[in-house]
Amino acid sequence: MTDAFKGRVTLALTGASGAQYGLRLLQCLLQADYQVLMMVSKAAQVVVATETDINLPGTPDAQQAFLSVHYQAQPGQLRVFGREQWLAPVASGSGAPSAMVVCPCSTGSLSAIATGASNNLIERAADVALKERRQLILVPREAPYSTIHLEHMLKLSQQGVVILPASPGFYHRPDSVEAMIDFVVARILNQLGIEQALLPRWGETLL
Ligand SMILES: Cc1cc2nc3c(=O)[nH]c(=O)nc-3n(C[C@H](O)[C@H](O)[C@H](O)COP(=O)(O)O)c2cc1C
Repeated sequence: MTDAFKGRVTLALTGASGAQYGLRLLQCLLQADYQVLMMVSKAAQVVVATETDINLPGTPDAQQAFLSVHYQAQPGQLRVFGREQWLAPVASGSGAPSAMVVCPCSTGSLSAIATGASNNLIERAADVALKERRQLILVPREAPYSTIHLEHMLKLSQQGVVILPASPGFYHRPDSVEAMIDFVVARILNQLGIEQALLPRWGETLL
């Protein structure tokens, strides 16, 4: 039951470097008592295997079971959907949560979202967020950005999409990779209006 949770967020992991950002965000959302409707692209599975020690199973059901245990989700708190699961709640404005985060967001998915491709459930869910004028946060990571990438970001930003690049700051003197990851994840949680203790807000004590 969704009423059992504080709210619902759609989270998509795509195949940009920075799988850790998406996984840490998942952990924080679950700890904050939010239900997460999740999708993991095929390329994201490769990136997770490359960048982390997590051995993510191949099917959505197995991913849901694995991640629920790994992050100690409550029963029903985490739901993982496959790339062509068109009957999932995120595929329609009537069923989708009010906020969606693509973290990390590959330039491929960025392009598909900017052009309304809707060729898989991640792209469709983002398209639904756009057409319903709901909160959509994209966390791209590429370097350098091409003019095409920048044009896609500008186009989406002009429609109210939050482009929140995976660009950790250093003014909090991070002493670990985890602290750098938390910098970005804190920014996303701030955008979602979810309380976080990962990073003080500007003007609060930093050290
Ligand atoms: C280890 C690894 C790292 C990658 N890093 C990036 C990256 O930082 N940014 C990016 O846009 N694409 C990156 N890619 C390429 C994307 O995964 C690829 O373009 C893919 O088609 C994206 O598909 P998706 O959007 O469905 O996940 C990476 C791929 C791999 C395997």
